[in-house]
Parts: sequence; C-alpha cells; structure tokens
Amino acid sequence: MLTQDDHAAELEKQLSQANKQLLQSEKLATIGQLAAGVAHEINNPIGYIHSNLKTLRTYLLDLFGVMDAIDQADSLATLKSRREEVEYDFLKSDIHDLLGESLEGIARIEKIIAALKDFSRKDDDGFKPDDLHQGIQSTLNVVSNELKYRAQVNLSLGQVPLLECNLPQINQVIMNLLVNAAHAMEHFGRIDIRTGTTDTGVWFEVEDNGAGIDPDHLQHLFDPFFTTKPVGKGTGLGLALSKNIIDKHRGTIEVRSQPGQGTCFRVCLPIQQPEGEDD
Ligand SMILES: Nc1ncnc2c1ncn2[C@@H]1O[C@H](COP(=O)(O)OP(=O)(O)OP(=O)(O)O)[C@@H](O)[C@H]1O
Ligand SMILES: [Mg+2]
Repeated sequence: MLTQDDHAAELEKQLSQANKQLLQSEKLATIGQLAAGVAHEINNPIGYIHSNLKTLRTYLLDLFGVMDAIDQADSLATLKSRREEVEYDFLKSDIHDLLGESLEGIARIEKIIAALKDFSRKDDDGFKPDDLHQGIQSTLNVVSNELKYRAQVNLSLGQVPLLECNLPQINQVIMNLLVNAAHAMEHFGRIDIRTGTTDTGVWFEVEDNGAGIDPDHLQHLFDPFFTTKPVGKGTGLGLALSKNIIDKHRGTIEVRSQPGQGTCFRVCLPIQQPEGEDD
C-alpha cells in the first residue's frame, strides 16, 4: 500500500517532470522564434548583396570591354568615346557605393552569426565562485570609450559575497546593459551601477536617465531582434542574449522605465547554483 509519503514523492516527481517538459517547450519556442528572426534578418542583407553582385558583374563586363578596345582602337579619341559610352564616371562612383554597401551587409551578417554562437555556447568552464565587482570593473574598462562622451558612470557597490557564476557571460550582460544605457542618452547623462544582496542572492542594477522606453515596447524588449535602433546600429539581440544568460544562471532580469526620465534594469542571481545541474 502506498503511504502518504509515497504519494507526496510521486506527486513531486510528476511535478518536476512537468516542469522539465515546460522548460523544454519554452526553449523550443525560443529557438523557433530565433530561427525565424535570423532568417528574416539575414535575408535582407543577402538580398541586396546578391543584387549588388549582379550589377557589379555587368559593370565589370563594360569595363573589360573598354580594356579590350585598347587592342583594336586606332586612336585615343576612339578609346575616349568608348569610355564615355560606358559612363565611366558613373560606374566608378557606383562601384564604390555597391562595394561599401555589400561590405556593410556582410559585417551585419557576421554580427548576427557571432551573437548566435553566443546563444548556443555551452559554458566551457561552467559556474565557479567569482567576484561580481571585478566583473563590473573589467567590463567598464572595455566599454569606457563608448560611455565617456555620453554619460558619467557612478558606482554604488554593496558588500557582496562570491557568486557562483560564469563571469565572462555575466560581464557580457553588464556590457549589453551599459551600451544600451549609453545609446539611450539624448544629452550627456548619468548611469548608476549598484549592487547588493538579498537572503539568497546578489543583485545588480544599471540605471540611466536617458530617453526611457515606450510602455508598448516593454513586453517585446527581450524578444530576439526587437530593436528601435536604425538599421546597422542595433540587431536587437543584446537583451535576448542577456536574458538567455541570466536564465541559465537561474536568475531574473527585470526592467522599469519612465519615458523621458530613464530606465533601470535589475538582475538578481542566486549565490549558489543547484548541484550537478550545470547547463
Ligand atoms: N536603457 C535603455 N533605454 C531605452 N531603451 C532601451 C534601453 N535598453 C534597451 N532599450 C530598448 O530595447 C531595444 C532592444 O535592446 P537590445 O539590447 O536587445 O537590442 P539593440 O540595443 O537594439 O541592438 P543590439 O544590442 O543587438 O546591438 C532597444 O532597441 C531599445 O529600444
Ligand atoms: Mg543593445
């Protein structure tokens, strides 16, 4: 006969099973969304690079024609008129533009692929106790060039214990938040970085006094490829990637924002990860 304890254990097993399935299906949903986004985002640059290459081919055929004419031409005047015919000056400047645009498109695709690699990266060295404040400092060193003309950065760091985490990935989150904060500045502004503890966790905040976020955008903020930045400036992967990293750490990332006043992102992380469950 089953005792009450057996029942409870069985129920707990079922719940944990259901929970795992749910996590799995959420993961799949995210992957589907991501794949659709990648296809869409890459399609656009590939489209214009393709059409640029076709145009470049016809331009090159024209230019080869001029070069070949050197062999047959009886006078410089014939050559010059041949050059006029292919609208050489126009070709020259258009080739320059087409190549520039295509290179920019390739750079954009490269950025998307690099971000995708980050998404799928298995944490090589997993989680280990590390110093969050050191992570914040080294990240600040990396992005200081990007920040210094846009905002004054203030640190208000509490006493925090060593945090079981993958610090390079946490640094990546901090970097994304800092760069977003800097981009939100309409004038020279202020960015506050704060840290502190709760009973079982550590939190950090990145707050800016920039443009703030339209309330209608809040629900899409962490969706892959959601961006309000002009083409070429943002891919909309920063926050999606950050959420992915924080989820892997079993933490939370929250935002509060006042349009015209500023935005604050708050990340909470458990001090210890459950044993033997490294992702
Ligand atoms: N601190 C902030 N203030 C105002 N808007 C923000 C802030 N952080 C994020 N956003 C909004 O959220 C959008 C998504 O941010 P996310 O970092 O995911 O992508 P991105 O910055 O546009 O591009 P990427 O980070 O890939 O270069 C931004 O385009 C912007 O509209
Ligand atoms: Mg960003």
